[in-house]
Amino acid sequence: MTAQITLADYLQTHATPALASTLTTLATASVAINHLLDKGALAGIHGEAGGQNVQGEAQKKLDVISNDLLLNALIHNPNCAGVASEELDEISPANDDGTLLVTFDPLDGSSNIDINMTVGTIFSILPYHNQGQKATEADFLQAGKHQVGAGYFIYGTSTMLAVTFGQGVAMFSFDPMTQTYILINDNVRISEQTAEYAINASNRRYWLPPVQQYIEELVQGDTGIRQKDYNTRWVAAMIADVHRILIRGGVFMYPYDTKIAGKAGKLRLMYEANPMSFVIEQAGGASTDGVERIMDIAPTNIHQRIPVVLGAVEEVAYVKTLHDKAGILANGDKSSE
Ligand code: F6P
Repeated sequence: MTAQITLADYLQTHATPALASTLTTLATASVAINHLLDKGALAGIHGEAGGQNVQGEAQKKLDVISNDLLLNALIHNPNCAGVASEELDEISPANDDGTLLVTFDPLDGSSNIDINMTVGTIFSILPYHNQGQKATEADFLQAGKHQVGAGYFIYGTSTMLAVTFGQGVAMFSFDPMTQTYILINDNVRISEQTAEYAINASNRRYWLPPVQQYIEELVQGDTGIRQKDYNTRWVAAMIADVHRILIRGGVFMYPYDTKIAGKAGKLRLMYEANPMSFVIEQAGGASTDGVERIMDIAPTNIHQRIPVVLGAVEEVAYVKTLHDKAGILANGDKSSE
């Protein structure tokens, strides 16, 4: 039997010491979150926390607990200059001499907790350039292409980690016996074939015409221009839908919709769209807001929302073509060309 490669082994040869240390801190916090999820109702983690996050969403107890676990662990890591969480209004400066900034969604898909379904932690690691000074929100507002690491811990039927440092994607499975993450695939690639798509179709009437057209073509299956049938899959946790696409292909969409005026899509650029786009691109896929590559977008606000279309390269390119042909921007405005 070949020797198992642990996360610690992998980090020694694939990450700088600062990145390795930061990832180790994230992994340690993930093990604590995983432990609470394992105990479930017995750990008293089900139900609402009673507050709202900056997005105006009701916080679950485990949103708050996971946020605190990650935040406390990261601000004590000397490499970490600052932390931003989807659950907190303000960024948290950490160690002025640190070289890295971390953003995270502590518990993506948290509406799944109480029904015992998949949730996860998404993280993004950015460089910090102002050593000796306290990190501010402006330091975090870097386009996704500047990320030096990103990934997610998924708490599903088993717990897994997918991570990239810009040279491909590695996937690990958590071994509950040894409490360590073990490498299972050091070169995750997205299938070029697409047989599945993920979208919340109940928003259909609010989508822009290019997205309506795209989904209509998929729904027509072998009776339409695609001449092939497709399946819909929607877990309502981005982490689970993206994980499935990494494993067996497809396309994930949370496009712009007009359901709530002023909301440019549902997902957050800094906590969800950028890290998942980095992982997807590093696995050979693509990611767009419908018009622009997501990782090229310069953020203007730490809690910014963005439409997301990601997965198999050809599907993502086709959705962009439909927007271009319709002369429509990702936010519904007319394009100037
Ligand atoms: O963070 C938002 C999120 O929970 C994503 O993980 C998920 O893809 C989406 O919302 C689900 O949205 P909806 O409630 O519209 O299905």
